[in-house]
Amino acid sequence: MNKVLGVLSLACVLLLAGCKAADKRADIEKEVEEVLAQMTLDEKIAVLHAQSKFSARGVPRLGIPELWCDDGPHGVRPDTFWDKWASAGQTNDSCTAYPSLTCLAASWNRDLAYRYGRSVGEEARYRKKNVLLGPGVNICRTPLNGRNFEYMGEDPYLAGELAARYVQGVQSNKVAACVKHFALNNQECHRMDGNVNVDDRTLYEIYLPAFKKAVQQGGAWSIMAAYNQYDGAFACHNARLIKDILKGEWGFDGAAISDWGGVHDTEGAARGGLDIEFGTAGAYNDYYLAEPYKARIVSGELSEDELNDKVRRALRLNFRTRADGYSGSFLSPEHTADSRRIGGEGIVLLRNNGVLPLAGNARKIVVLGENAIRPMVVGGSSSSLKTQHEISPLQGIRDAFPEAEVVYCRTYYSGMPTPGSYNYSQYDITETRPAGELLTEALAAVEDADYVIFVGGLNKNETQDCEGEDRLSYELPFGQNAIIERLAAVRPDLVFVNISGSPVALPFAEKVGAVVQAWYLGSETGNALADVLSGAVNPSGKLPFSFPVSLEEGPLKTERQYPGSADEKGVWQVYYEEGIYVGYRWYDLHGGVQFPFGYGLSYTTFEYGQAKASAKVMKDRLTVSIPLTNTGDRAGAEVVQLYIADEEASVDRPVKELKGFEKVWLEPGETKTVSFTIGRDALSFFDASRHEWVAEPGVFKALVGASSADIRSEVEFRLK
Ligand code: GLC
Repeated sequence: MNKVLGVLSLACVLLLAGCKAADKRADIEKEVEEVLAQMTLDEKIAVLHAQSKFSARGVPRLGIPELWCDDGPHGVRPDTFWDKWASAGQTNDSCTAYPSLTCLAASWNRDLAYRYGRSVGEEARYRKKNVLLGPGVNICRTPLNGRNFEYMGEDPYLAGELAARYVQGVQSNKVAACVKHFALNNQECHRMDGNVNVDDRTLYEIYLPAFKKAVQQGGAWSIMAAYNQYDGAFACHNARLIKDILKGEWGFDGAAISDWGGVHDTEGAARGGLDIEFGTAGAYNDYYLAEPYKARIVSGELSEDELNDKVRRALRLNFRTRADGYSGSFLSPEHTADSRRIGGEGIVLLRNNGVLPLAGNARKIVVLGENAIRPMVVGGSSSSLKTQHEISPLQGIRDAFPEAEVVYCRTYYSGMPTPGSYNYSQYDITETRPAGELLTEALAAVEDADYVIFVGGLNKNETQDCEGEDRLSYELPFGQNAIIERLAAVRPDLVFVNISGSPVALPFAEKVGAVVQAWYLGSETGNALADVLSGAVNPSGKLPFSFPVSLEEGPLKTERQYPGSADEKGVWQVYYEEGIYVGYRWYDLHGGVQFPFGYGLSYTTFEYGQAKASAKVMKDRLTVSIPLTNTGDRAGAEVVQLYIADEEASVDRPVKELKGFEKVWLEPGETKTVSFTIGRDALSFFDASRHEWVAEPGVFKALVGASSADIRSEVEFRLK
């Protein structure tokens, strides 16, 4: 009886919550209509474009407040001046810096994604922002893309699952997420003008799903339209993307915001479905959706109904993000702990011959490499932050091993100053000694060390994982490969820590003791890294994108595909001729990958049992389950991945596609059964000729594994 009462009362609570939310929505809609009816044409126009770098007007006469946006996906950007990009130099905006979104993606943890969003959203709320300009969910199509570090990998299912939760987390603070950059912004080279040519099936199967899930499951209140062109129209004016797909097919009721400076034409923006214009050059009244738009409304050239729809969406965004007395929180110990936890869960152990975890009684640890001391919270351009503290890898190792003598040698010098316009004088990373001397010093220091840890990688300076331009090479920069070869010759147990937000070539991986993929980890970098190196945290990260052996092994074979080239009219054209074969979808067919999508080691070991399907023939749903055992001597987490293979497709399909994952924590010796319930959507491909998703009857396989290249068990079933 108690159980029944319990279930009933839970149902009532949920029903009540649902009703309350529905009431809230109804109240907002009612207020939108009431305010809209009172607004003058000038007031309507005013809410559709910026009044400063990061704000749009409200309706002062009616007591509607301004709308404030701020970057970025990894933390709340310090304020710029009203109308200048330079930092305003305030003393109240040093934030908690969270790990980059590639790190969150590498955690494969939905709950953590929600927690991340909620945490960074609390900081945005405290800083009185209505809109947080993130998450970025553009698919990693090339390792060279300058902004991979801000995005969530090469697979639309993984990116979508985590982005949806991040959005829900941010918006739980009544701060709007702004999912970006919609769509097809997969490179920085010619990002402001490049026209992407891509077939519909690829668009719908690879480049849209993460946005769709962020809207339909995440409930995103705003979307940022990208700079680039698609099908000959700028994304900020692209009626197909914004009106037909986003608002039409997906039912998006939020506001479509332009990327900063992404609008080029009044009629395009008005008719293309854009709602709010930011970042255009020149006076705010001259914005395309300002006076020029008003003139066309007055002349009757553009419709008042269309205008009113934009104003409704701007008001809805404004009303949804009212504080109502809630003020979030900022720089709290909880946020610092969140940042550290996300870092520890996202770090990926790529190789370990047993040298890790470091023994607690280590006597001498030698730490090498510029990235052991380099501030990484700055750099990368718009996602750059000013943080209250940033624990360097060196500091984190020192704090984790207080008894050990921790010696630091620079070993290499990037020659790139600390980026960003913030005063980072306390980080003096200049170096005057010649490269040879740096190496000599390191070689001498490592001789009698218990452990040697080299912290290298990229550094978020120009061409080194930075918005605005792509990387120039897939190789590690600053001579690191040669240096590692020299060091590994004397210390083959060397631990290489790669700090990057993109895949890089790791030619020496087999010559060192361990390789750790550490992302840009934010304020708690050194602590999160030391947690994993010391074993305080058992690494559980899995790669959100493939590490090919070289670029040549990848799907982008021609200049047309990447970076593109100018056509006869001088328009930059990029052709996605690889179609859906991006990332592991390509490497499954062609090989050439050094570390595969979904790969990551642990300090313990896991054993997979036999996968079972709930039925031999699937009608609408099917459950695949598999026992998983921790066969090692240390608690740990494993990300069990479910891939689906269509064995009898009438069209070309990838060998397999990710359609489920579960992160499971197990004590030593513990076994849990992991289950995945899938629907027909997990079996479907997009049939562009019919413009619909199709699940063809026939034989399918559920492949369950520890990575895309390590399937441990499979089970066949038929779709009716
Ligand atoms: C930048 C970026 C975008 C950012 C915006 C505001 O150019 O493309 O991600 O949110 O402008 O800084």
